[in-house]
Amino acid sequence: MIKVSNLSKQYVGRTAVDDISFNVESGEIVGFLGPNGAGKTTTIRMLTGYMPPTSGTALIGGHDIFHQSLLAKKNIGYMPENVPLYEDMRVKEYLQFRAELKGLRGKNVRKNINETLELCSIKNIKGQMISSLSKGYRQRVGLADALINKPSLLIFDEPTNGLDPSQIRSFRELLKELGNKHTILISTHILREVELTCDRVLILNKGKIIGNDTPLELSERMKPSSIINLELKTQSGDPRDIISNISGIKKITLENEIDGWQFIRIRVDYGNDVRERIMNLAVDHKWIIREIHHQRINLEDTFIEMIQNKNN
Ligand SMILES: Nc1ncnc2c1ncn2[C@@H]1O[C@H](COP(=O)(O)OP(=O)(O)OP(=O)(O)O)[C@@H](O)[C@H]1O
Ligand SMILES: [Mg+2]
Repeated sequence: MIKVSNLSKQYVGRTAVDDISFNVESGEIVGFLGPNGAGKTTTIRMLTGYMPPTSGTALIGGHDIFHQSLLAKKNIGYMPENVPLYEDMRVKEYLQFRAELKGLRGKNVRKNINETLELCSIKNIKGQMISSLSKGYRQRVGLADALINKPSLLIFDEPTNGLDPSQIRSFRELLKELGNKHTILISTHILREVELTCDRVLILNKGKIIGNDTPLELSERMKPSSIINLELKTQSGDPRDIISNISGIKKITLENEIDGWQFIRIRVDYGNDVRERIMNLAVDHKWIIREIHHQRINLEDTFIEMIQNKNN
């Protein structure tokens, strides 16, 4: 459904999207996850034909979004980051305007409007002025706009931004329902959101794709773990060679060395507290330990660490 090849975007003096390639198959719900400034909106704007890439291509349903833009755009329902709406129109009037703009005519206009009002639970506000709507209702009108011509592909940029928890939950439910009939690409910076709703997660950071996982693989990768921060001095030899023999150690790194004091970071599975074993080794090898500290790493920390590891 989406085929992106070597897509890049450079703004003046800055690369926002850096040579990314990925596919989204028909029927998938794919999450586009990344911190602020990762390049999500820039990518989405290119995929929806709102902005040309500096290089690379994007095919939507087999059509190049730039060279066959009318054909490609017909397949896409797009809900932008800040839903732009006409303030001085009533909801139904606005949807009629949008439906006609998207090429619907005659009784199809009324039929699609009614179905979409129903689906987005906004039938009760159809006569209301857009300027008087709350944030949550504005989002739903934006959603109705994206759905009005029943496109096969839906692209949502941070759709739950600014919604309250109950609105977020009902949006998730709607998303699952929409997933039965549409292919969906949804961007967010909230890890939990993609875990709950998506079949696959693309992780974007500093313009590059650094992960392409199922939520299961992602949670496996982000299993809670612990860090032991150790500060020591030795007479001779590298303590990492000795410590790494302790079972269950996943990673051990020398962070810094100042005046003979080594700052070592040890990653272990959560619950595997190896401090006592390290202390025993310290006695055997006559290390002087100035600090040994255990720290739990949660899901968000792991995500941040993953992002930093790949790009620094
Ligand atoms: N019109 C523009 N001109 C110059 N730089 C831009 C422009 N739009 C975005 N950028 C820069 O490109 C990078 C990517 O921005 P983008 O809006 O795509 O990120 P994002 O992942 O959508 O972030 P957010 O989560 O904050 O919405 C950022 O460094 C941003 O400052
Ligand atoms: Mg954005």
